Amino acid sequence: MHSLAFANGDRIPALGLGTWQAAPGDVYRAVKTALQLGYRHIDCAFIYGNEAEIGRALAEALADGLVQREELWITSKLWNNSHALGHVRPALQKTLASLQLDYLDLYLIHWPVALKPDVMIPRAAHELISLDVLPLAVTWQGMEALLEAGLCRHIGVSNCSVPKLQGLLQNAQHKPEMNQIELHPYLQQPAMLEFCRAHGILLTAYSPLGSPQRPAGLRSEDEPVLLQDPTVAAIAARRGVSSAQVLLAWALQRRTVVIPKSVHAERLAQNLAAAEVTLADEDMQQLAGLDRQRRYVTGSFWAVPGGPYTLASLWDT
Ligand code: A2P
Repeated sequence: MHSLAFANGDRIPALGLGTWQAAPGDVYRAVKTALQLGYRHIDCAFIYGNEAEIGRALAEALADGLVQREELWITSKLWNNSHALGHVRPALQKTLASLQLDYLDLYLIHWPVALKPDVMIPRAAHELISLDVLPLAVTWQGMEALLEAGLCRHIGVSNCSVPKLQGLLQNAQHKPEMNQIELHPYLQQPAMLEFCRAHGILLTAYSPLGSPQRPAGLRSEDEPVLLQDPTVAAIAARRGVSSAQVLLAWALQRRTVVIPKSVHAERLAQNLAAAEVTLADEDMQQLAGLDRQRRYVTGSFWAVPGGPYTLASLWDT
């Protein structure tokens, strides 16, 4: 499996299994199947509500000798209600207990958005905390302490704009090594790629297939369906692969990590096999022409009326 290197030489498998919206009942089987197929990288998060089932699958795979812990790459993410300095470590410990692990390979701040401790998803403005009150730099200190305590091997962020990365880099003892963001041919973010390359920050592409399963509340009526894009389909036909494989190969050829989610064995296998697909320069050029700055995961759920976040402040646009 193709991998990307961190500054200390550690390598992250470039194609991992996404677990957002993998129902607890399905994810146990999906993780076991994925490990049997050869996946070694599982992307998790506390808020996905399925870490205990993933932990059960991992524990069994380790006990059965299917994989060794050192071969696995496990990522998870700090939820927004645990951004206060004293809440970061307990949040990670909860995740570690659910995943039945002693350490994570990578821990990310899930969103540059803070919530009151008892809130999961905000319904009212008073449930959010402004970044002026609880700055990301404070949360970052908590993340650095986890690294120093050996509870995770790498730390990073998710959903951060370039200005937010710049802010973190200014004061960091240990700089963020990963930004996990939405990336696909409809949202290519070239300036972000350039910035991260220049600063030694790796990128993980989430929703690489256009997140076709998002809950209805997170969709808009007019949205284009990435998996049905005619250019993608034409390249797929030319290369004798599926549209999903074209999208994943595109992400890998841009040297980003990519984490497609599936709970079906045949798609898990198909997605993993995308690592063997080579796109020609001509294909990459055609795909480059598809950019339309189209976010599927807009973050609109943080823009509660009267609250401290707007879409412009979230993405710094
Ligand atoms: P399922 O889990 O039922 O297989 P994204 O990673 O962009 O969020 O996309 C995940 C969605 O795409 C899930 O709904 C998943 O469904 C579906 N999916 C995953 N792999 C494929 C594939 N190879 N072809 C078509 N759809 C896929």
